Formats: sequence, C-alpha cells, structure tokens
Amino acid sequence: MAIMIDEINEQPHAVAVAVDSEHANVVSLVKELRKRQIRHVVIAARGTSDNAAVYGKYLMEIVAGVPVALAAPSVFTLYEASINFADSLVIGVSQSGQATDVLQTLEAARSTGALTACITNVAGSPITELSDFTFLCHAGEERAVAATKTYTTSLALFALIAGVWADHQGLIDGLKQLPEQIQQTLLLEDEISRASERYRYIQECAVLARGINQCTALEAALKMSETSYLVAKPYSGADFLHGPIAIVSEGFPCFLFAPTGRAYPSMVDLAMKLRSRNAEMVIVSNNCEILGLAAKPIKMSVDINEYLSPIAYIVPGQIWAFHLSRNRGYDPDKPRGLSKVTLTR
Ligand code: AGP
Repeated sequence: MAIMIDEINEQPHAVAVAVDSEHANVVSLVKELRKRQIRHVVIAARGTSDNAAVYGKYLMEIVAGVPVALAAPSVFTLYEASINFADSLVIGVSQSGQATDVLQTLEAARSTGALTACITNVAGSPITELSDFTFLCHAGEERAVAATKTYTTSLALFALIAGVWADHQGLIDGLKQLPEQIQQTLLLEDEISRASERYRYIQECAVLARGINQCTALEAALKMSETSYLVAKPYSGADFLHGPIAIVSEGFPCFLFAPTGRAYPSMVDLAMKLRSRNAEMVIVSNNCEILGLAAKPIKMSVDINEYLSPIAYIVPGQIWAFHLSRNRGYDPDKPRGLSKVTLTR
C-alpha cells in the first residue's frame, strides 16, 4: 500500500476523533467570542490549509453571519504593514504548525488586540504559542506530501466552530454522521481508479465547483497538480463563465463537483454550457440529473447536508489524484521536488 491512499482511508476515524476531542474547546472559544463581541474573522494559511480556510470563510459567513477575510500574509512579511485587528478573531491554519508567514500574521494580529486561534495537527508546534485557542486535527502523523486527512479534519473543525457559534444544531448533528458518509465514499476507489485510466495523458484541465464547494475545486486541483504534474486550473463555476470558459473546446477535460443544494442549479447550467462545447466532463454528484451529462459520472451514494458536503466531496478528488498519478507512471507519495513542510515568507 502507498502512504497517501492509507491516509485517505484513515479519514473517517480522523474526522470523528477531531470533532469529539475538540468540541468542549470550541464551546470555550465561542464563549470568548461572545464576551469580546468579536465582529470579524481573518484566516491566514498556505497551500491545502488555505483551501480549508476558504471553506471556513464560506461557512462562517453563511451560518454565523460574520464577515470573514482571507489574509494575504505578504502584507506583513514583505510590506511590514500594520493593521488594526481589534474586535477580530484571527485564525492561523497550518498542518505542521510551522508556516513562517502564517506565524508572522498571527503575531502581528495579536500585537494589535486580536483574539488568536489556530488549527494544526501538531500539538506544541510554533503556531500554538501564538494562539489563545488551539484546535488539533488529531489526524496522527501525516507522512504523504499530499495532505489529505489534515485537510478534512481542518474542515470538520471549521464546521464545528461555525456550528457552535451559530447555534446550528443541524450542522453539529450532521458532523456526527460524516465519518460513516466518508466511509461510504471510500468504496468508490475501484471505480475511480478505472475511470482515471482514460485521462492518463491529459496535460490540462479545469476543476469547477460553486459556493461552499469552491474549496473542493481548489483542493482537488492542488492534489492533481502536485501528484500528476498537470495544469489543473480551479475556478468558481460563476467566474469560469466570465471568460475562462473560452478555453473549452471539444474534448477539453473538466471536473465538476456538484452536490445537491443551493449551488446545484448553477452547476447544472454550467454543465449544459460545457456540453454544448463538447467538453469531456467528469462529474461527482449524488444527483443523477447532472451525472447524465458526464462522460465519466462518479455517483456519490450518500446525500449530505450541503454545508458539510465539501468534507466528503474532496475524497473522490483525493482518490482520483492518487490513481491518476499512478496511471501516469508517477509515485504520488514522492511528488518531484516537494517536501512535507514548505516555509515561505
Ligand atoms: C498539500 O498537499 C501540499 N503539499 C501543501 O499545500 C501543504 O499542505 C502545505 O505546504 C502545508 O503547510 P502547513 O503545514 O503550513 O499547513
């Protein structure tokens, strides 16, 4: 077995442990948020952690009604800007807890009065020293360069924070069902492995999703780029229509993530437009209507609350990236020229 696929398979357990272990800690954070009347959230992260941050932004804005911005760490590291973070919660996400630019952002935020928190997989790592609250992924050591279980556990922690902050019981209850739903999704591995064979020579593709699954498009594209060395461009389904769709001609590979929910009708609309251009569509959905438009439909066997769907919908994307890489003759456990921890300024 390869490390990446082992870690993909560990996700049901990892998500369950993260949610159980951090619930009380999240309740304490929310008490503090209310006491301090926190009105804004800023999230700082890089790479896969930044994709988790995109999920955190959408979900907290939708259910908790607070504006959430994604930090541009270079504002601090390159331009040494001073920003007033009073009344803000600043969350750093770093699986390793070592991301230097994320640390610098948290440090700057704290010095101007922010409440700080982090999501990390490493207890006692440098990011925890700059955080008033630490939320651990409890994913166990992640050895594959391509992050998988630290991503889904980070998403689960964001969902827990948003759910508790908004008193959204449906979200909190839904999180308890997720491990089983991810387990069901893992059963798609053989089908995805076979389906990916047809795409082993592609050099470019678009990866598309809408709304709360924007993070899924970003993360699936990142996984494909780093393990298969192809140009996988992620777009919001809406942004894609504002120009980039012009790249699509007959046979152009497009990956769509389209769970049932508020974003679904716009994904059907997009799929129809792509079909009229004879695009080659791989579609992941629980809905047979949109799957009927795909060259390669990947049917999710579970219906998941749209707000939580990104935590399960990335799993086919991870499995796809793993098998596509192998079908192309690469080793997804050893992406060329990459190491597990990347430090940037
Ligand atoms: C993930 O597949 C990538 N290898 C990369 O984005 C990685 O997640 C990121 O560099 C991790 O940084 P962090 O430890 O600060 O989260």
